[in-house]
Amino acid sequence: MAGKLITSGVHYVGVSHYDRRFFDALVPTPEGTTYNAYLVEGKERNALIDTVEPEFKELFLHNLRATGVKKIDYIISNHAEQDHSGCGPDILALFPESKLVTNEKCSNMLRDLMPEIPADRIIIIKDHETIDLGGRTLEFIMAPWVHWPETMFTLLQEEQILFTCDLFGSHLATSDIFLDDPRLFYEPMKRYYAQIMMPYRGQVVKRMETVGSMKVKMICPSHGPAFKDPALPLALYSEWASDTPQNAVLIPWVSTHGATARMVDHLTNALVLKGIKVYPHNLLVADLGRVAENLVDVATIALGSSCILSSAHPLAAYAAILTNALKPKAKFATVFGSFGWSGTKVPEQILGLLSGLKLEVIPPVQTKGAPSAETYAALDQVAEEIFSRHSSLGLK
Ligand SMILES: [Fe+2]
Ligand SMILES: [Fe+2]
Repeated sequence: MAGKLITSGVHYVGVSHYDRRFFDALVPTPEGTTYNAYLVEGKERNALIDTVEPEFKELFLHNLRATGVKKIDYIISNHAEQDHSGCGPDILALFPESKLVTNEKCSNMLRDLMPEIPADRIIIIKDHETIDLGGRTLEFIMAPWVHWPETMFTLLQEEQILFTCDLFGSHLATSDIFLDDPRLFYEPMKRYYAQIMMPYRGQVVKRMETVGSMKVKMICPSHGPAFKDPALPLALYSEWASDTPQNAVLIPWVSTHGATARMVDHLTNALVLKGIKVYPHNLLVADLGRVAENLVDVATIALGSSCILSSAHPLAAYAAILTNALKPKAKFATVFGSFGWSGTKVPEQILGLLSGLKLEVIPPVQTKGAPSAETYAALDQVAEEIFSRHSSLGLK
């Protein structure tokens, strides 16, 4: 993507991290990611919007030099997280006249993370404040909680290009700056939304309203592709961030000797026969990014766990903790599984780990040893209960 123009005088200077396989040491990124940074040239002054992960400093500086820019006056920091701020100290050192421009909260966080940044090199701006580059104006729009409390947007007023940092990002390493076909970025963008934005869904909706009320002509996020048609990312986010879930069930499961796996198959089949979409994930081999993507949509979470060492299986506990942290819009939960000689604590443990979601609980099903006819009848009852609760929400 290096050396490419967004428009005359606005350069892409970011880097692609093709083999990044985890983000925040949390969710897999099988298609890598990018750290997008942009150089905006004015008649008198130049501004760099965000930087990149420090690991890619050399490539980033190479891309910056490739634009032919001789001086940088402002380094705009839209977000203090290191994947965008990490090369700030290097740019400050390389361009001794440059100033770092950001809001007060971001400034404090940057100095916590990188104490080497001199306080007198920082210009603090407020909501809707502008800086003049000579023929070009940058406006700063506070946009907290997309992804951290200090996040903000930068608007290039004359061209109406909005730099949204993490909002509308995708974990997709690509050599294209712009992708207009959603098939090329839908899954990496949804994966990104699920992991980074979904926990702050209420705030994301407010920021979408802000963007929707502007006359933006282009959206340039700081991960993955940029968008010449702002309606495209807004439409996808509207669906994902809406309060209404789909008529769908997520079944993350783990089975020690196969009994819980048979329960998964039975429940999945029973739900499918009722016209409900089901996403079963064997946690032993599951891509947790996919699990997170499904969490964006489902109305019910049915967690299957065998009992091991008198407790829920650790993989099931991890899935429950992750689900609780990602704050999906799901409304209902249940737990099911097999135990050897005592397993009654498992549903209580799992539901306890999901307690932050305030889900309506459908009575759990536990079986001692192999599932029996009674077990399957109880699972049919769970499927019926899920069907009726989804119907009560009008989900089809
Ligand atoms: Fe971030
Ligand atoms: Fe980021």
